[in-house]
Amino acid sequence: MYTFEDIQLAAALLRERLGDAPACALVLGSGLGGFAEALEHSVSLNYRDIPGFPFSTAPGHAGRFVAGLAEGVKVLAMQGRFHCYEGWHASQIAFPVRVLRAYGVRILLLTNAAGGVNTDFSPGDFMLIKDHINLSGRNPLVGANDERIGPRFPDMSKVYDPALRRLARDAAHSIGIGLHEGVYAWFLGPSFETPAEIHMARVLGADAVGMSTVPEVIAAAHCGMRVLGISCITNMAAGILDQPITAEEVLAISARRQPDFAALVKLILARIDAEQYA
Ligand code: HPA
Repeated sequence: MYTFEDIQLAAALLRERLGDAPACALVLGSGLGGFAEALEHSVSLNYRDIPGFPFSTAPGHAGRFVAGLAEGVKVLAMQGRFHCYEGWHASQIAFPVRVLRAYGVRILLLTNAAGGVNTDFSPGDFMLIKDHINLSGRNPLVGANDERIGPRFPDMSKVYDPALRRLARDAAHSIGIGLHEGVYAWFLGPSFETPAEIHMARVLGADAVGMSTVPEVIAAAHCGMRVLGISCITNMAAGILDQPITAEEVLAISARRQPDFAALVKLILARIDAEQYA
C-alpha cells in the first residue's frame, strides 16, 4: 500500500529530474507510445528509478516518463502503463496518477487501444470517451482512504470533462479527423472477451471495450484532476466479425493510426495551452 509520503517522494524526484510540472500529462496506450519519441528537447525518467514504482510488462509499452515539447507546449508522457491483468493491484495503478497530481499536473489525457462494440465503428476509428462502465470488479480506491489525496466517496457523474471533450471534438473537426464519442467498458482481461460478453456490453450501453484506462480515471477523479480519454478502435470486438482477435492486429492498427493520433493530440494540447484550461 502506498502512503501519502511515498507519493510526495516520487513527485519530488519527478520535479528534480524533469523540471517543473506541465499542466497536462498523457498516458500512451498500446502501440501509441511513439508519440513520446517525437517530443522535442525531451528528458526521461525510467519507472524503475522511482522507488516503489510498478514496471510495464505489456507488449507495446516502454516503462518511462518522457517530458518534452509538442509544438512548443510542454507535456509529460507516460510511455507504458499498468494493467490489472499483469497482476498489479488497482491501487498500484493509481500510484503513478497520484504522483502526477502531487507533481503538479492538473489534466490527464488517457489513450488506449480498444475493441469496437458499436457496429457503426471501424478499425482505425477514434472514439472520445464520454463515460465508462467498470465490469472488472476492481477499484483503485478500495482500502483505507487518505483525505489528503481525495474524498472517500468521489463523485463520478462528470469525470470525462465536458469542456475538454468539446475542445477535443472541435480540434478533430478542424483537421478533418473523425472522432466518435461513446462509452468505454473495462474488462479485466487478459483474455479477449467472448461474443456473449460483447453482446452484454452492447446491451449495457458500451461502444468500446478494453483492459485499461478506468482505474487511472477513477484515481484521477479522486485526486481532482480533469480527464480526457481517447480510444483507438483497433478491431471489432468478439463475435462482430467472423475472425479471431489478435494482439498483433491491435498493435498494427494503432501503429498505423499514430500519425493522425499524434496530430490530434498535439492540437488538443495546443488548444488546452492557449485557452488555459488547466
Ligand atoms: N478487447 C479488449 N481490449 C482490447 C480489444 C478488445 O477487443 N482491442 C484492443 N484492446
